[in-house]
Amino acid sequence: MSKDAIVILREDHKEVRALFREFENKSTTTARKGSIVKKAIELLTVHTYIENEVMYPEVRRLLPDLEDDVLESYEEHHVADLLVMELSAMEPNDERFEAKTTVLIENVRHHMDEEESEWFPKVRDGLSRTMLRELGGQLLEAKERAPRSPAQPSALKKAVDAVVS
Ligand SMILES: [Fe+2]
Ligand SMILES: [Fe+2]
Repeated sequence: MSKDAIVILREDHKEVRALFREFENKSTTTARKGSIVKKAIELLTVHTYIENEVMYPEVRRLLPDLEDDVLESYEEHHVADLLVMELSAMEPNDERFEAKTTVLIENVRHHMDEEESEWFPKVRDGLSRTMLRELGGQLLEAKERAPRSPAQPSALKKAVDAVVS
């Protein structure tokens, strides 16, 4: 039996939040910040992919009332994608690395907070436990095929689609 979709997404958020906290810790070295950002970029690329490809379209189809939330979420992902792409081309000692990461953290935290406090409860109310577990299975499958880096064609294509469409 698959895990509940919301549980899977929450676990991803938790992992990302832990990295963000470590980045902000005063005793974290510049070199360590570099590897934290690398890891965060990988997690965010996979997480964004499974939400964009599975969770958002399915929720939009099953719960049409949540359409506006889904559309706003796509836009928030898009902003984060742009920051992630720029950051992935930077070195930790670049002048703008720290500032850009801080802006990414602010954006992603706001987005995760909104998902957790507003969006997930609405989805949980609207879908049965069986449906949430079915969706969970689809999310885990999508994780297997998800790009790990924003430079991979499937990740880049999404960003380009969002800009031109
Ligand atoms: Fe999201
Ligand atoms: Fe999320």
